[in-house]
Amino acid sequence: MAAPIPALDIDGLVSWYGKVEVVSQVTLHAMPGETVALLGRNGAGKSAMMRTILGLEPPIRRAGSVELDGEEITGRETHEIARLGVGMAPDDRKIFPHLTVEENLVLAQKLTASGREPRTLGEIYAMFPLVAELRRRGGAGLSGGEQKLLAIARAAIQRPRVLMLDETSEGLSPVMVQELVAVIHRLQAEGITMLTADQNLRFCSKIAKRGYVLERGRIVFSGSIQEFWEKVEVGEMSLMN
Ligand SMILES: Nc1ncnc2c1ncn2[C@@H]1O[C@H](COP(=O)(O)OP(=O)(O)OP(=O)(O)O)[C@@H](O)[C@H]1O
Ligand SMILES: [Mg+2]
Repeated sequence: MAAPIPALDIDGLVSWYGKVEVVSQVTLHAMPGETVALLGRNGAGKSAMMRTILGLEPPIRRAGSVELDGEEITGRETHEIARLGVGMAPDDRKIFPHLTVEENLVLAQKLTASGREPRTLGEIYAMFPLVAELRRRGGAGLSGGEQKLLAIARAAIQRPRVLMLDETSEGLSPVMVQELVAVIHRLQAEGITMLTADQNLRFCSKIAKRGYVLERGRIVFSGSIQEFWEKVEVGEMSLMN
């Protein structure tokens, strides 16, 4: 039997913000349905990595390869990469404050790339019960945690195959983190492959078995979250700034 092909396979990726190399020779992969953590302190290059994968500018993609289910996507336009099934919940959420929660979702549904079949509101509300409760609320009236859940729901409605979550647990109360973990487990049950950038090791250990640690754009650790945690505990590695 042929070896399974990674859902996301990145090899020697390099990108720049202006003259500064922010992603340096990054090689990583996620198998279909796997959730992989991307750890690293502030400014390590986690967001730059995600933006590079999605073909967003800045940064400027320069070298290396990104394959989606074995298909090369390097150099393609962002809308084309989205059409192939890569989605992102960005760290700055980008919720429309003057629209209700439901209107934000409907807009994302309408903006689903042609050729992809978006999820229904009912499906999303079943996966995100808290978002369902908030559906008539205005975007401006949401807490930071509620906005983060909505940002994920909005990405999920476009039925991505690979979903990138940027700093989703940051600044959330323990109750909201629990809600987030439950939501991510539901997305995992749907078979979605995820890459999650975070600094919260405890949160990552609840949703991922494996991860990569970035430092100044380079991978300095790859392996099990448990193994990394042990290195942090003995002071061999750190995520502190
Ligand atoms: N728009 C930009 N223009 C120029 N440099 C940038 C820009 N955004 C980020 N950088 C720089 O790129 C590097 C990587 O930043 P990035 O935002 O990817 O880090 P991060 O790991 O996501 O950090 P954080 O945990 O703070 O979100 C940092 O040195 C940062 O200062
Ligand atoms: Mg970031």
